[in-house]
Amino acid sequence: MRASHIVILTGAGVSAESGLGTFRDTDGLWTKYDIADVATPEGYAKNPKLVLDFYNARRANCRAAPPNAAHEAIARLQREYPGRVTLVTQNIDDLHERGGSRQVIHMHGQILQALCAECGHQWGWTGMMELDDICHSCATLGAVRPDVVWFGEMPYHMEAIWARIAECDLFAAIGTSGAVYPAAGFVSDAQHRGARTLEINLEPSDNAACFDECRLGPASETVPMWVEGLLGDG
Ligand code: APR
Repeated sequence: MRASHIVILTGAGVSAESGLGTFRDTDGLWTKYDIADVATPEGYAKNPKLVLDFYNARRANCRAAPPNAAHEAIARLQREYPGRVTLVTQNIDDLHERGGSRQVIHMHGQILQALCAECGHQWGWTGMMELDDICHSCATLGAVRPDVVWFGEMPYHMEAIWARIAECDLFAAIGTSGAVYPAAGFVSDAQHRGARTLEINLEPSDNAACFDECRLGPASETVPMWVEGLLGDG
C-alpha cells in the first residue's frame, strides 16, 4: 500500500558522489581530524582559527560540489509524490537545495550560514570566515562561528522532526552510518509508531538490523531507482 507520509533522513553518503567526503569511511574526515579539535565548542574555544579554517575548507568544497542524481531524485519525489514527503538531513551542505529540494530540515546546521556565539543571530555566509569578523546584528568582534551543530550541542528542529516521525508510515535512511544520535535513533522511533523502515546505503550501517528492508549500492543509482518505484514508473 502506498505510504501517505514518507520521512527521509540523509547523511554524508548522499553527497559522497558529489565529491564531498564522508566522516567514517576509510578516507573520511574523522580519519584526518580529531572531532574534539574541530567539531566541539571546547575545540572552538581552545583554537578558533583551526576550527574556522576547517570549515572554510569544507565551505569551499561544498560550493565547488555539484548535486548528484540522488539529490535530484529526492527533490523529484518531493515534487511529484501524491503523499507527504519530509526531508531531514544531517548534512551541512546545500546540495539538496541545489538538487531542487525546496523544504530541507538541516538538523546539524548549514555550512553556508554564520551564527553569532554572542547574540545567536544567523545569516548567510559564503566566503572565508576569519577571527576578526563581526556579527551582522550585534557587531560583536570574534563571536562569528559556522552555523553548524557541534558534538555536545542540541541539534536543530528536533520537535518538528519527532512530530513528523510520529506520523509517518515510511521512514528511509539514505547514506548514513547510524553512528550518531539522535539521528541514529529515528528508525526505532519510526518503527515504534508502526512505520515501515528502509535503509539505502553503500554498505550496511551500524543500525542496519533495525530496518525492515536494506538496499545497497551507490546512492546515485539506488535512490533514483527507489523514487521511480514509488512514483509508479519504475
Ligand atoms: N552512496 C550511498 N551511501 C554511501 C556512499 C554512496 N556513494 N558513500 C558512502 N556511503 C555511506 C557509508 O557506507 C556510510 O554508512 O554513507 C555513510 C556515511 O557515514 P558517516 O561518514 O558516518 O556520515 P554520517 O552518517 O552522515 O555522519 C553522521 O556524524 O560527524 C557527525 O555531524 C556529522 O552529520 C554527521 C554525523
